[in-house]
Amino acid sequence: MSPREPRPRSRGNTKMKPEKTWVAVEEYMDELLLSPDPVLDAARKASAAAGLPDIAVTPGQGRFLQLLARMRGARHILEIGTLGGYSTIWLARALPADGRLITVEAEAKHCEVARANVARAGLSARVDFRLGEALELLPELAAEGLEPFDFAFIDADKENTAEYFKWAIRLARPGAAIVVDNVVRDGEVADRNTTDERVQGIRRFLDAVAAEPRVSATTLQTVGGKGYDGFTLALLNS
Ligand code: SAH
Ligand code: DHB
Ligand code: MG
Repeated sequence: MSPREPRPRSRGNTKMKPEKTWVAVEEYMDELLLSPDPVLDAARKASAAAGLPDIAVTPGQGRFLQLLARMRGARHILEIGTLGGYSTIWLARALPADGRLITVEAEAKHCEVARANVARAGLSARVDFRLGEALELLPELAAEGLEPFDFAFIDADKENTAEYFKWAIRLARPGAAIVVDNVVRDGEVADRNTTDERVQGIRRFLDAVAAEPRVSATTLQTVGGKGYDGFTLALLNS
C-alpha cells in the first residue's frame, strides 16, 4: 500500500477502535519516511482480491522488521505465517542476493497468493515457500540440516506461539533475533484471567521467554491503523 492510501482498519475482534491520532501520526510518518511502492501495493490488492484477511503488518511495521533484519545482517530468515507474502517481501528485501527466507503457511490459497506476490516483487529466488502446519514442518526443517537462521518472524496462530518460539531457538544460530507479532492485543495480554485462547497462547509464549536463559527480550507496544498491539523482540545470546 502506498503511504497515500488509507491505513488498514483494526479487525472486528479487537475491542478498541484505533484512535484518530494514532492513525494520523502513522499516515504522517509513512508518507514522510516510506517511498511509494507499487509492488507492495499490488501485493496488498491481490491479497484483498483473493479474499485473504486484512491482517498483514502495516507498511511502517514492514519497514521496521526489514530494518531489524538488516541490523542483524540476516542471511537466513524464517517466517511462520505467510498470508499473502506482504511481510515476506519486506523481509526478503533485507537479504543479500544469495540470502534465503523460508516461509511457512498452512493455507494453500494464502501460499499461492504469496507466491504470485513474491514473484511480482522479483524475489522468488530468495524465498522458499513451505505449505503445511507449522508444527509439522518445523521438525522437518530441523531434519533437513539447513543453515541456521539469523532472524525469525513468528506471526501465525497465536495458540502455538510458545512452541514456534522453541523451534525458532532450536533452528537459530547464536546471536539470532526472533520477533513475534500481536503480543499485546489491546492490552489484554496483561489480564491473567483472559479467556481469549490466542491471548492465553501469547502469555504461554511470554512465560517461555522468561524461562529461557539464552535470550534477552523486550516487548515494544505499537499503535496505529491496526489498533493497539505490539512486538516481542528476543535476541539469542552470541
Ligand atoms: N506475516 C503476514 C501475516 C500472517 S497472518 C504478514 O504480516 O503479511 C497469519 C497466517 O498464519 C495466516 O495466513 C494463517 O493461515 C497462517 N497460519 C495459521 N495457523 C497456522 C499453522 N498452524 N501453521 C502455519 N500457518 C498458519
Ligand atoms: C490479527 C492481526 C494479526 O497481525 C495477526 O497476525 C492475526 C490476527 C487480527 O487483528 O485479527
Ligand atoms: Mg500478525
